[in-house]
Amino acid sequence: MYCVRKVTEDLYWVGANDRRLALFENIHPIPRGVSYNSYLLLDEKTVLFDTVDWSAGRQFLENIQHVLDGRKLDYLVINHMEPDHGASIEEVLLRYPEAKIISTEKAFMLMRQFHFNIDGRTEQVEEGDTRSFGKHKVTFVSAPMVHWPEAMVTYDMTNGVLFAADAFGSFGSLDGKLFNDEVNFDRDWIDDARRYYTNIVGKYGPHVQALLKKAATIDIKMICPLHGPVWRSDFGYFLDKYDKWSRYEPEEKGVLIVYASMYGNTESAVNILASMLAEKGMSNIAMYDVSKTHVSQLIAETFRYSHIVLASVTYNLGIYPPMHDYLVDMKALNVQNRTVGIIECGSWAPKSGTLMEEFLDGMKTMTVLNEKVTVLSSLNESSLLEMEQLADGLIESMND
Ligand SMILES: Cc1cc2nc3c(=O)[nH]c(=O)nc-3n(C[C@H](O)[C@H](O)[C@H](O)COP(=O)(O)O)c2cc1C
Ligand SMILES: [Fe+2]
Ligand SMILES: [Fe+2]
Repeated sequence: MYCVRKVTEDLYWVGANDRRLALFENIHPIPRGVSYNSYLLLDEKTVLFDTVDWSAGRQFLENIQHVLDGRKLDYLVINHMEPDHGASIEEVLLRYPEAKIISTEKAFMLMRQFHFNIDGRTEQVEEGDTRSFGKHKVTFVSAPMVHWPEAMVTYDMTNGVLFAADAFGSFGSLDGKLFNDEVNFDRDWIDDARRYYTNIVGKYGPHVQALLKKAATIDIKMICPLHGPVWRSDFGYFLDKYDKWSRYEPEEKGVLIVYASMYGNTESAVNILASMLAEKGMSNIAMYDVSKTHVSQLIAETFRYSHIVLASVTYNLGIYPPMHDYLVDMKALNVQNRTVGIIECGSWAPKSGTLMEEFLDGMKTMTVLNEKVTVLSSLNESSLLEMEQLADGLIESMND
């Protein structure tokens, strides 16, 4: 049975939700599921904007059939070819033999790599090209690396709808509620949106900045992303988040403490640090056990906070492996502009602090505070003093 929603008078959401998938890209947990959004425009021509993951193909095809109501499909606009959106392209071509695909040269190359039979079905477009479907005239804007090199966004100049591809998307299934004003985004969605952006697109901040600059020149009335809610109001809220995330600027002044501890001594040390910070008036603190928290969550929190404290045991003369994984991810996603405090722990040759600092040296604009703490097995009077100095150092650097 179809399940669709009306977006505007002649545009329909024909996507689907996936609540069964445990890991997005087989790596990021999605306990709230994910939506694959696709949109169908009924103009003089009928136009489908992007498709869905193969797992949602059946629902999607029923939705299209229902909305078309016997009409043929004329065009399929493909903004992004990643299989979570592109996997159903060939099935659409088979069912709608007159449909032509409008997309970029790179996207067509990728479709051929995935062995889609698109011969004779393609209409290649470039940035600035336009197409008229009757009442609606659209223009195409390239969006390379948001999130793949072939990506583009499509702007409907008639009604101001922006088909934004992966930009402005979020993890989380749509529980019937499609529009941002039907949900409490800042309460129920922002954490998933942040985790989605930072882990999926976080590496490509400059490319997102380039797209935001282009977006600033057009009059956007609605943003239709490929995942998560459709935006029809309050753009400033989400654009501001995207601007900060893509410039690697923190959203909040606060301290993210990520610790690695086997027997609990390092954990106990950071509990003391957190208490000192709160005592000194800085209570915007988030604390995570690196072994228990999925790295995608740590990455999202890293983009959020201005200050990070890394506390790690020494493990075979190295950084504790899950902490090392987190650092590798942080670097891969281009995290920058953070102030970092370091706590190392060890019983006979503590080295994790020096190693973490060396790792941070290889990243862009990460400031490591001079106040470092070395814990020998367990916090003692002298390391407690170092901890106090670290707490002061963190707070001072916030007031700069
Ligand atoms: C497999 C393993 C390797 C370790 N390697 C080192 C090491 O190279 N240098 C060191 O000083 N301590 C090493 N340790 C000891 C711990 O880092 C140390 O006991 C630490 O204080 C434990 O802190 P925790 O209570 O927070 O787990 C190792 C411990 C284990 C289990
Ligand atoms: Fe993507
Ligand atoms: Fe996607």
